[in-house]
Amino acid sequence: MLAMNYRGPYRVRAQQKPEPEIEHPYDAIVRVTRSCICGSDLHLYHGLVPDTRVGMTFGHEFTGVVEEVGSGVKNLRPGDHVLVPFNIFCGSCFFCQRELYSNCHNTNPEATAVGGIFGYGHITGGYDGGQAEYVRVPFADIGPTVIPPDLDVDDAVLLTDAYPTGYQAAEMGEIEQGDTVVVFGAGPVGLFAAKSAWLLGAGRVIVVDHIDYRLEFAHKFAQCETVNFKDVDDMAIHIKKMTDWLGADVCIDAVGAEAAGSFAHRLTGVKLKLQGGSAIVLHWCINSVRKGGVVSIVGVYGPTFNAIPIGNAVNKGLTLRMNQASVKRHLPRLIEHIQAGRIKPSEVITHRVPLEEVSDAYHLFSSKLDNCIKTVLVPPRAAIDTPTRIAVPA
Ligand SMILES: NC(=O)c1ccc[n+]([C@@H]2O[C@H](COP(=O)([O-])OP(=O)(O)OC[C@H]3O[C@@H](n4cnc5c(N)ncnc54)[C@H](O)[C@@H]3O)[C@@H](O)[C@H]2O)c1
Ligand SMILES: [Zn+2]
Ligand SMILES: [Zn+2]
Repeated sequence: MLAMNYRGPYRVRAQQKPEPEIEHPYDAIVRVTRSCICGSDLHLYHGLVPDTRVGMTFGHEFTGVVEEVGSGVKNLRPGDHVLVPFNIFCGSCFFCQRELYSNCHNTNPEATAVGGIFGYGHITGGYDGGQAEYVRVPFADIGPTVIPPDLDVDDAVLLTDAYPTGYQAAEMGEIEQGDTVVVFGAGPVGLFAAKSAWLLGAGRVIVVDHIDYRLEFAHKFAQCETVNFKDVDDMAIHIKKMTDWLGADVCIDAVGAEAAGSFAHRLTGVKLKLQGGSAIVLHWCINSVRKGGVVSIVGVYGPTFNAIPIGNAVNKGLTLRMNQASVKRHLPRLIEHIQAGRIKPSEVITHRVPLEEVSDAYHLFSSKLDNCIKTVLVPPRAAIDTPTRIAVPA
């Protein structure tokens, strides 16, 4: 059969390759009717994804007609026209039971973060993809969905990745009625995120890119405002100017590892590969969102090699909640816990040091001497018991 064949960075060919066969009773062989190229394929094409092997066929966004099914497949029949989600998942493991299909535990022996993906190299299981005439679809009862008769196949193929990914980006933004949502990236994923943001209640949607034709398309397709980042000195200040100096309620990263816009990030992340890609969009998201806002990331970052493994965090679907503590909010409940005797916070105090001996106290605490856990400094005029003096070990 004819199939896309990876020969190394920036080199792909259409070549003859043996047709896939049923390898397992739950497999199906699907004759591809549509397959797309995704922004994620570009990371492979550019040689940025480790363990992308020569000879691999890419393609994780495809539809096709079922040609043959394994003996264990019950829900599909030859002739069914299906759309196949880009994730390969078993449907029954701990993660699949929680609908974390992209994190299936049974379909990718190479990783603990992401599950199997069609045509995405050996870090996602080494499955050949759908940029070919035929593709083997594992767990055929679980992943594929028969395309409803009234659904255009061109719409169906976008349901295998780009549209759901954009939708999930907006969903993870926890958009509230009237929110201002900034979407970085006017590729298909960003476009669907922008469109979905309106459906989820946004009051204002702003799409950022540096390619004019894409921004024009975004403006028409998603009825959004647009910003060309080449016209902007400082993204965070620009977004703040646009939002009464508050910042956006939600920022979405639909760009990922190959983001343009910062020489330093391109150099360290893309050229020298010292971090898992250019992190400039993460940087912009964090600085452009308002205090207490939400940053939603669907852009792909390299795994493992980052100084901070943000790619692993994305692949694992982590929720990172963060803030400085809003102390007062917690006080009524925590005082109640103390009064009820459920906790005695002062049990962690190991040292009471007169303020005059603050320098010893720092040394003690910093060097973790004398079993120090928490030091209380007592000023001379404190109207409490005279503190016991401490002997600081040398
Ligand atoms: N998490 C998932 O499940 C999932 C699924 C599909 C795609 N993705 C990832 O989403 C990202 C987008 O995918 P796509 O298919 O839309 O890709 P794409 O390459 O078509 O679009 C990316 C866009 O980002 C723009 N861009 C570059 N630097 C930018 C910057 N600093 N600020 C704003 N825009 C910038 C580019 O000009 C381009 O228009 C990719 O990283 C892809 O790997 C993730
Ligand atoms: Zn994709
Ligand atoms: Zn599973």
